[in-house]
Amino acid sequence: MSNEYKHWKINRDNNDIAWLHIDKADSKTNVLSAELFDEFEQIINELTDKPPKGLAILSDKESGFVAGADVKEFTRFETENEALTAINRAHTIFNKLEQLPCPTVALIHGFCLGGGMELALACKYRVADDDPKTKLGLPEVKLGIHPGFGGSVRSIRVMGAPAAMNFMLSGRNMSARVAKRQRLIHFATPKRHFVNAAISIINNPPKAKPLPFWIRLASYKQLRPLVAKMITKKVAKRAPRAHYPAPYALIELWVHHHDDPDEMLKKEASSVAQLIVGRTAQNLIRVFTLQDELKSLGRYEDFAPKHVHVIGGGVMGGDIAAWCAFSGFTVTIQDQKKEALANVSTRAYRLYKKRLKINRLITSAMDRLIPDPKGNGLKRADIIIEAIFEDAKVKQDLFKSIEPIVKPDAILATNTSSIPLDEINIALKDPSRLVGLHFFNPVAMMPLVEIVKSPTTDEDVSKKAAAFTKQINKLPLPVTSTPGFLVNRVLMPYLMEAMILANEGVPLPIIDKAATDYGMPMGPIELADTVGLDICMHVAENLSKDMSIEVPEKLKDMVEKGFLGKKSGQGFYLFNKGKPVKGASTKDYTPPNDVQDRLVLRLLNEAVACLRDKVVETERQADAGIIFGTGFAPFRGGPFNYIEYRGQEQLIKMLEKLQSRHGPRFTANEGWLKPDN
Ligand code: NAI
Repeated sequence: MSNEYKHWKINRDNNDIAWLHIDKADSKTNVLSAELFDEFEQIINELTDKPPKGLAILSDKESGFVAGADVKEFTRFETENEALTAINRAHTIFNKLEQLPCPTVALIHGFCLGGGMELALACKYRVADDDPKTKLGLPEVKLGIHPGFGGSVRSIRVMGAPAAMNFMLSGRNMSARVAKRQRLIHFATPKRHFVNAAISIINNPPKAKPLPFWIRLASYKQLRPLVAKMITKKVAKRAPRAHYPAPYALIELWVHHHDDPDEMLKKEASSVAQLIVGRTAQNLIRVFTLQDELKSLGRYEDFAPKHVHVIGGGVMGGDIAAWCAFSGFTVTIQDQKKEALANVSTRAYRLYKKRLKINRLITSAMDRLIPDPKGNGLKRADIIIEAIFEDAKVKQDLFKSIEPIVKPDAILATNTSSIPLDEINIALKDPSRLVGLHFFNPVAMMPLVEIVKSPTTDEDVSKKAAAFTKQINKLPLPVTSTPGFLVNRVLMPYLMEAMILANEGVPLPIIDKAATDYGMPMGPIELADTVGLDICMHVAENLSKDMSIEVPEKLKDMVEKGFLGKKSGQGFYLFNKGKPVKGASTKDYTPPNDVQDRLVLRLLNEAVACLRDKVVETERQADAGIIFGTGFAPFRGGPFNYIEYRGQEQLIKMLEKLQSRHGPRFTANEGWLKPDN
């Protein structure tokens, strides 16, 4: 058998077991590129001609088994037919793998996602490393498609429709233990036992057990449409069909073709080929690559901080500290108030319990989070993050007092949301050390961190801050130290417009619906209530000094009366068990026809202004920042991608119309007119 492969290694041992190693050349991660498939086909053909006693497939990469198909190749399909040819090819290879007349075992550690999971599903047995780092998933819906290499048919076959549909429609990853429980894999065992496990399976192949009757029931012809209807209803709540067609295509695939697996495989391929060249998939794939681009800004070879010291254990500092400990760092958390520190521990425990589940892991995360009222951690920390009151003088005093104590190369970071860095760093002997690490609330949920640089900030310091951000699994976005940075600056005009609409008498649910119809995950009124009206007012007041935004009187009034939104139980909406009560039906109300345009165009106009003012360097970074910082409709690929799609000229005309109707706040920013924008 040939062993001259670029991305694979194969050897047959004395017992005629073939060990096939995936090791994509020049890459830290295995992804199924076209070139890797070429070789795989050759290998499978050779194995078909001369079958071994058994085949074990494993990865030589530390990162895991296979992270998926090569997403970059998805953007190169010009026609549906071209996509179909590529998908059919993968089908042919996986079908041949499935039909090998010997036991086949996938040995899975680390990431096993998308196409990688589908490869494993084409093996007769799956063994996964019983380690929290093992993540099995079919996350294709997040890219606007559904599994396309046989994964829909095979996952339903092994798990049963209810679990498999949930697995595919949520796109969520599973640990080895859960995967075992859900029948996705056969064994969960430590990686060191992989070789023995494979030999034992190949020597004594366990008999396949049929799925229990009650699981098969959901797939019965008569019941399927009913079950599908229930699943569709659930999906529609999260992902409207007009914006996200893939989940619906998957449900239909199952309903219509479950009884004929060969036909279902064929239809799976044509369904994905159609979806993948559509706008939603292309935009979601763009979002995926934007995310990778942000991650790559956090690359810094020799920077390996271990200890983080956080000062200020309030809403933000407490959660930042908990998150850093969750990510594996030793964290000391300092606050002038003892109760604040107790509160941090309680919140951290809640987070770890939810995310880590296993007691041993929860305990070690709690052990890494050390309450430090006296600030003993300062002298040992590699990174110090300040998250105390939003007051320039108080922050200056703090930095002045800690500068002589901290290590000379420790990074000094502030979480300020509105104070220019150059106003804080003047207190330092070496002002170039200060960088902004602007987290968003709630820290555990929000993927973005703005890396705020002032003209004084040392380039190396901001690069290290970005690297640290990546190390805590957040996405770093470099921004200049200008009012509102990027995210708050584009968000505020949009929120203020919503409040102006409310003031004009447009019912709140109508305003929110206009935004969710556009594709925002939550309407602006509900968002303002969720963020906290006091915080909104504070940010808006700060920004109003530099931007043409007016803080609505109603907002000030509500804050004064203690109506702060979700946290106080009453804001624009009344909250019941954390959910806004959206009140009576607005069926008889006819809203003005420009509600959505008013909201969206103020956001787009500000995004253009930010780029013109060079708050971020590129349109792609702006798109990424606004999607990951505000939740901006991901299927639209970001504001600039949307502007390109709609055309600048048309949007400028819309702004002019709105300006004549509603005033100068709709004046098109000069940035629009630049051809290179
Ligand atoms: P907070 O008021 O909840 O917490 C501040 C904490 O700092 C309090 O526990 C206080 O006891 C402590 N503190 C004050 N001075 C101190 C000192 N000298 N030494 C030790 N501890 C001290 O405030 P929050 O909301 O957490 O904000 C903190 C910072 O984060 C501010 O700069 C704010 O602008 C920024 N920020 C806030 C966001 C939010 O949504 N709350 C979002 C992003 C940034």
